[in-house]
Amino acid sequence: MNDTFLKACRGEDVSYTPIWIMRQAGRYLPEYRAVRGKADFLTMCKTPGLAAEVTLQPIDILKVDAAILFSDILIPCEAMGQGLEFHEGKGPLLAPAIRDEETVRRLSVPDPEDKMRFVMDAVRLLRKELSGRVPLIGFAGAPFTTATYMIEGGTSKNFLNTKRMIYENPALYKTFMDKVTATITEYLKAQIAAGAQAVQIFDTWGGIFSPADFREHALSYVKMIIRNLKEWMLSRGETVPVIYFVGETAGLLEEIRTSGADVFGVDWRIDLDSAAARLGNDVVVQGNLDPLSLFLPVNKIEERVKDVLRRGASARGHIFNLGHGVVPQTPPENVVALVEMVHRLSKK
Ligand code: CP3
Repeated sequence: MNDTFLKACRGEDVSYTPIWIMRQAGRYLPEYRAVRGKADFLTMCKTPGLAAEVTLQPIDILKVDAAILFSDILIPCEAMGQGLEFHEGKGPLLAPAIRDEETVRRLSVPDPEDKMRFVMDAVRLLRKELSGRVPLIGFAGAPFTTATYMIEGGTSKNFLNTKRMIYENPALYKTFMDKVTATITEYLKAQIAAGAQAVQIFDTWGGIFSPADFREHALSYVKMIIRNLKEWMLSRGETVPVIYFVGETAGLLEEIRTSGADVFGVDWRIDLDSAAARLGNDVVVQGNLDPLSLFLPVNKIEERVKDVLRRGASARGHIFNLGHGVVPQTPPENVVALVEMVHRLSKK
């Protein structure tokens, strides 16, 4: 039974700094590629046995302190009625792009146990297979980050269509975001009800905004989700930690601290102690090694790990992670070494 991660989320004393890694089940692992060679990405997401198998790989191989459900933040888009495909080397494609009243009107707020049952089945299966070995993290995209994919129809460079909808037709954006927010709220509740022991909300693209626009067009919807989740959990006598990760965190820390989250994910563009100070110090932070520093020689990685640990110690609690997802080209042995280092160097 390893509950170090959950204790750290709650700001309790821990005997070492727990670590998990964003995208820990991914293409950098030969064991993942072996499963992926037999099934495409969406099939893996939709087959609970396969999703559970790759979720467990990094627990055995890396010895991380938490499992994160293998899935994708774009799964709810398909459940809302938008077409979703992943093409090799091209990233996700969503069609039709959500740009006008008609496409927004046709989207539904799905019952997650109906339209995304495979996700909750994977959660239930994983809780059984983990049997307390490490906690299981569920997740969803934040409404804004999810909406960018739905409006752009995929990945984007400058988010032109998203910002145009926000600035040219704010009423339409709000109607759309209310549907996305309701969908994600119900989706996270369903994951928690199925057994997720913490949830992370990914706001990867929050950093494209000025602080004022971030507050109004992204953060306000995250606050609604967290407030709603907390009330619902209270009524069930449950306290599942909520982690809020924002990409390009540095310009937005004063906004992020008002989100209501229990843990704040920080990217690598800022020192963790500066981030903790601006978040209020009495907070739990998660992060924040540059994912590409895993290409350094192991002794240099160790220097950086020491630095992150030292800076993380200024917060009430620290969960070690990368500042964003591990990239496919990363040498897996360096990721194994990273986990070992964090455990060894942080031992009290
Ligand atoms: O962290 C984990 O291990 C849990 C699983 C997870 C995946 N995606 C698996 C995945 C999580 C939490 C995500 C989140 C996600 N998905 C985000 C937010 C976090 C972030 O990384 O910024 C975003 C923006 C997406 C959307 C998405 N999914 C993109 C842009 C891509 C890349 C497409 C590509 O080919 O590189 C994906 C695919 C994806 N999601 C993969 C994995 C392991 C690779 C799929 C494959 O095997 O081909």
